[in-house]
Amino acid sequence: MGVEEIFANDARREGQSAIVEQGRFGDVFTAAYVALQKLSPKLPLSDASDPCAVGTNILSPDGTHMKIRSTLTYSAPARVFHWLTALLLLVQFALAVVMPDVTRDTKPDGLIAWHLGVGMSIVLLVIIRLFWRSTHSVPPELPTLPKPLRVLAALTHWCLYALLLVVPIMGWANASSRAWDVMLLGAVPMPALSPAGSPIGHALGDWHGNLAWVLLALIGMHVAAALYHHFVLRDQTLRRML
Ligand code: HEM
Repeated sequence: MGVEEIFANDARREGQSAIVEQGRFGDVFTAAYVALQKLSPKLPLSDASDPCAVGTNILSPDGTHMKIRSTLTYSAPARVFHWLTALLLLVQFALAVVMPDVTRDTKPDGLIAWHLGVGMSIVLLVIIRLFWRSTHSVPPELPTLPKPLRVLAALTHWCLYALLLVVPIMGWANASSRAWDVMLLGAVPMPALSPAGSPIGHALGDWHGNLAWVLLALIGMHVAAALYHHFVLRDQTLRRML
């Protein structure tokens, strides 16, 4: 089986399409590599075993040059959603730490108003992101990852999405129970999620605060896993989101 076929099979197995461009000694790199390969036959002939290689040169045993452009990376919109969410969360946690304690007499202005505004933008962004994700395919987990780690990664991702919705909605309900006006993007008035003075809305404020720290712990795990992939396993997991 030729390298092209092996690669096409890899891609098919992953449910992805792969674009393979072929040419003979297409560039200086390839010619130099072929010369080196003759001197040192131990040099790998093909990167076809790495289905996430992006723009990788592949050499088949007869010296044919192939350049692959893999679709196994996140698309531009997926990357924008991801990094925008990360940025808003960074701002939101910083605001949560520096804003004054919320008491019975607190007015929703200053840093607290910013916390409500950024939080509502996160809700909007997560809803758009989930809608987009349900209508577009995402690249599969790397097949080189052991199954338990793949399951753990998927579980973490879905818990992150769930908390990214549940945490701000609880904060919104708490704000409503304080009879605060909640606006979307500073312009669109949002409905109250609980009646003013409601004990449930009040209790949801505590849940909001506590679950937000659980969310932060999960984000910490998520970041640690990405760095582990990049620096220890040295695979493409982080790079395909950059
Ligand atoms: C993902 C988005 C959000 C995160 C990560 C977040 C995070 C936090 C954190 C960590 C606290 C606790 C601060 C402390 O311990 O002193 C807090 C408090 C609070 N947040 Fe949020 N928040 C988010 C969205 C929202 C939204 C959308 C609203 C309202 C529209 C909101 C309203 C509040 C209120 C009213 C409190 C005070 C709760 C109380 O002490 O009873 N938050 N938030």
